[in-house]
Amino acid sequence: MDSILVRGGGELNGVIPIAGAKNACLTLMPATLLTEEPLTLTNAPRLSDIRTMTQLLGSLGAEVASLQSGQVLAMSSHNIHNHTADYDIVRKMRASILVLGPMLARDGHAIVSLPGGCAIGARPVDLHLQALEALGAELELREGYVHAKAIGGRLRGGVIDFPIVSVGATENALLASTLAKGTTVIKNAAREPEIVDLAQCLRRMGAQIEGEGTSTITIQGVDRLGGATHPVVTDRIELGTYMLAPAICGGEVECLGGRIELVGAFCEKLDAAGVSVEQTERGIKVKRKNGRVNAVDVTTEPFPGFPTDLQAQMMALLCTANGTSVLEEKIFENRFMHAPELIRMGAKIEVHGGHATVTGVEKLKGARVMATDLRASVSLILAAMAAEGETVVSRVYHLDRGYERVEEKLGACGAHIERIAT
Ligand code: UD1
Repeated sequence: MDSILVRGGGELNGVIPIAGAKNACLTLMPATLLTEEPLTLTNAPRLSDIRTMTQLLGSLGAEVASLQSGQVLAMSSHNIHNHTADYDIVRKMRASILVLGPMLARDGHAIVSLPGGCAIGARPVDLHLQALEALGAELELREGYVHAKAIGGRLRGGVIDFPIVSVGATENALLASTLAKGTTVIKNAAREPEIVDLAQCLRRMGAQIEGEGTSTITIQGVDRLGGATHPVVTDRIELGTYMLAPAICGGEVECLGGRIELVGAFCEKLDAAGVSVEQTERGIKVKRKNGRVNAVDVTTEPFPGFPTDLQAQMMALLCTANGTSVLEEKIFENRFMHAPELIRMGAKIEVHGGHATVTGVEKLKGARVMATDLRASVSLILAAMAAEGETVVSRVYHLDRGYERVEEKLGACGAHIERIAT
């Protein structure tokens, strides 16, 4: 299993290209199931989660060709011969549940394994299922699988009123309702840029959608959707992660393709911490305003609030800030597993339930640490780049799910980082 070795110290200077968003691509890919015509995604990220979705779609009968070294995904679902998403694939990646809505909308039936537990909390799929029931699906849970049927063979429009905001459930509802008969209204919908991107792609395919990016989305179902070519939106989490690199290490980095509106709440916190963020023509330029950054309090919230997917990386910054910061995690329980690893590097962190109190120290120290999930793993790399001495981060397969060529991107800015086989 690979590890990442980081020799800390030294500023970062240069440019980092930001890839297409993993989370957008994972919801755009199942949209191929809604049409017999080709759907092509450009600006796709090259990540193991994308390969898992490719494998899942392939198991259903879809063809997914990875072109231009993986940056273009040419998909065709003219021959869907299997309507069962198997546990062996679904358990690897929770986003697999996103094939349920499209399969049901297209052919009126689908069987999808329940994703099971996850390292960052219970993460049920009840909201996905409730949304599909509101569209006239009959669901049965048997032996760990959801067996879904559209009553009368086709989904029908309905009102979906989510009790809490869920990105994935909004996506499943949106995908399914495009082919449902009649009008669907999704209330308390997620407003994330990935939802807006999905709506734009579906519209290119012929769907009738209004209100994406607000909390009420209205969909007028159509009889069929056609093919399209769609560029995947920039990855705001990869963007925020690399924006933190010069904030933690010093120096100046320009993140190519970055747009402030994708990371507004995050930029406000960086500004308060004493980090300058400047929109340029080709991206976002980041550097510290003065010497050491200041402590700031952070609460994670659905978009447009501070993203939970940047909480671990922000904690890495606050470990060396001047003063005490409180981070509150409101989206997922148990999402502070990076804290004990950062403590191994000399950080002062106390976790009580959904709060973490971080008292900044002058310097972190290199150590052997373990990646516990995707965002935790990159937070350890950020911390390691600013620490004294060497850090070895093990279990980096988590990292490969969400960050492409991380050593190359950071190495090009002067970081001493390499992958080692251990
Ligand atoms: C997506 C992102 C993930 C991000 C998260 C929150 C993808 C592939 N993943 O995950 O990176 O951290 O949004 O921004 O896009 N919930 C339920 N029942 C459900 C669904 C969710 O109770 O049926 C709860 C979850 O446990 C969580 C909250 O709702 O507490 C929000 O989760 P959700 O927005 O659904 O996250 P995901 O779509 O799984």
